[in-house]
Amino acid sequence: MDISALQKARYGYKPKLPASLSCPVTDIVTETGAATEAKTDRELLKNLFKHTYGKPLVTFTNKADKSSSAKNEKLCRELKVGVILSGGQAPGGHNVIAGLYDGLKAGNANSTLYGLLDGPSGLINNKNEILTSEKIDQYRNTGGFDIIGSGRTKIETPEQFTASLETAIKLGLNAVVVIGGDDSNTNAALLAEYFLMNGSDIQVIGCPKTIDGDLKNEYIETSFGFDTACKTYSELIGNLMRDANSSKKYWHFVKLMGRAASHIALECALQTQPNVCLVSEEIEKHHMSLEAVVNSICASVVKRAESGNNYGIVLIPEGLVEFIPEIKSLIGELNDTIAHNEAEFSKLDIYAEQLAWLYKHLSAASYNVLHSLPHEIGREFLMDRDPHGNVQVSLIETEKLLIGMVKKKLQELKTKGTYKGKFAALAHFFGYEGRCAFPSNFDSDYCYSLGYSAFALIAAGFTGYLSSVRNLTAKASDWIAGGVPITMMMNIEQRHGQEKPVIKKALVELDGKPFKAFKSIRDEWAAKTCFKVPGSIQYFGPPEVCDEPPKTLVLEKNQEEFNH
Ligand code: FBP
Repeated sequence: MDISALQKARYGYKPKLPASLSCPVTDIVTETGAATEAKTDRELLKNLFKHTYGKPLVTFTNKADKSSSAKNEKLCRELKVGVILSGGQAPGGHNVIAGLYDGLKAGNANSTLYGLLDGPSGLINNKNEILTSEKIDQYRNTGGFDIIGSGRTKIETPEQFTASLETAIKLGLNAVVVIGGDDSNTNAALLAEYFLMNGSDIQVIGCPKTIDGDLKNEYIETSFGFDTACKTYSELIGNLMRDANSSKKYWHFVKLMGRAASHIALECALQTQPNVCLVSEEIEKHHMSLEAVVNSICASVVKRAESGNNYGIVLIPEGLVEFIPEIKSLIGELNDTIAHNEAEFSKLDIYAEQLAWLYKHLSAASYNVLHSLPHEIGREFLMDRDPHGNVQVSLIETEKLLIGMVKKKLQELKTKGTYKGKFAALAHFFGYEGRCAFPSNFDSDYCYSLGYSAFALIAAGFTGYLSSVRNLTAKASDWIAGGVPITMMMNIEQRHGQEKPVIKKALVELDGKPFKAFKSIRDEWAAKTCFKVPGSIQYFGPPEVCDEPPKTLVLEKNQEEFNH
């Protein structure tokens, strides 16, 4: 294989583990806490998850902390485990698999790891490959999910659940590990419950993946991939800043991935200090219309033009449109109407025909919003939903929509004589560029630990848990590994027009430290040029350059005032 010099060098990187897992496997000690509860919808969830609801939190320690000298031989059973990569790529997925593999082999050299190919469909259709150490070694510390492929198939129908169990039995699996985001781990919880309900003791363990950073709570401090993706985007934003500051002639409108929450945009703003960063959660809270959002961007453009600065940077979270009240209603109505009339709607190819059909099915307000959008953007709202029923916001060109509207508004201001600047804008979308980067040292270590902890959860006999590694702003040896029952993160939500149990998405908290830090300084950034250029991810060098955790996490853990 012809590989890059960096890939070769990264093979040699030894990811760090928490002390509780870096000991001999027989020294790992399992501690369980009290029974857990979901935050809301407890009775409904208890009913839906009769076998898995309310399990205790799990923490691993090692024998060095304990007086007992007994060896935990149970952890050294021979195991067969299947692993699935589910949903969008996130840097570090290969290290989760490497950690899981190394844990399994450290426990018992005869254990086997099956890669279930191309996402959950690999389990349904029994497409698998036994992962060997030669194969694993080719993927250590690399980005991407190409070791076994990923997919967005949702295990949903009774037939798919039956087929999943059949595959697991056929392969003689002790456990299935699902590496995925909130929807995929909701699936993991359903699978764990289904297996038990059907008399099978095959366990299911999830690992918190998503660059979006929205799968987090008290016990899951961050999802893996968020750090690397944000650092990659921040590098590119920093480069644009230098470019803008050099030629002084463009406003760059940068849409950043993050299907719903604005964590990525906020983290990149904290790293780079742009002129404007929209935060969807704030826009929703203040019921800001699309026009109000446009006005807020124009305010910065006008202010900067007054001091001769006709250039700047605007960060736009990908999920923005779903948080602007009138567009949120439109999307909600479209989702329900299209889901209920799928066959009829799919026959309409031409946008004019679709609009005519929607005129009869949408409320007047929503229809008018759709109709007022430029056709090429309106069409993007009607594209296929993903298998979980979500509109594919990454395909909606919000950055272009906003540029068009800002241009129009500035024309009006010019006519009124309140704006005298020049406005030339360029649109960018940073999304896929960050999902498969070489994982940062933080993600390399975190992912490897998550995989190793998933092994320990399986060996200790747990099911329906998300592998968890906490205390992430401390040095890796002090990280706390364990497991969190998935049901305690769930609530009931409307999906595809039906009530479903799902893991609650963690949105940006407006009273949280990261947002407050941003809010306290953003007016200065809007008017002045305070750009900060973080440069590319460094893999080798001093810890303050190479091992820094995400700023959001550091602020959330209250360890640092925002240092701009
Ligand atoms: P996950 O939630 O599966 O991790 O995916 C996140 C994401 O990268 C979003 O940021 C983006 O909206 C979406 O995937 C794009 O999906 P696709 O890869 O199917 O185009």
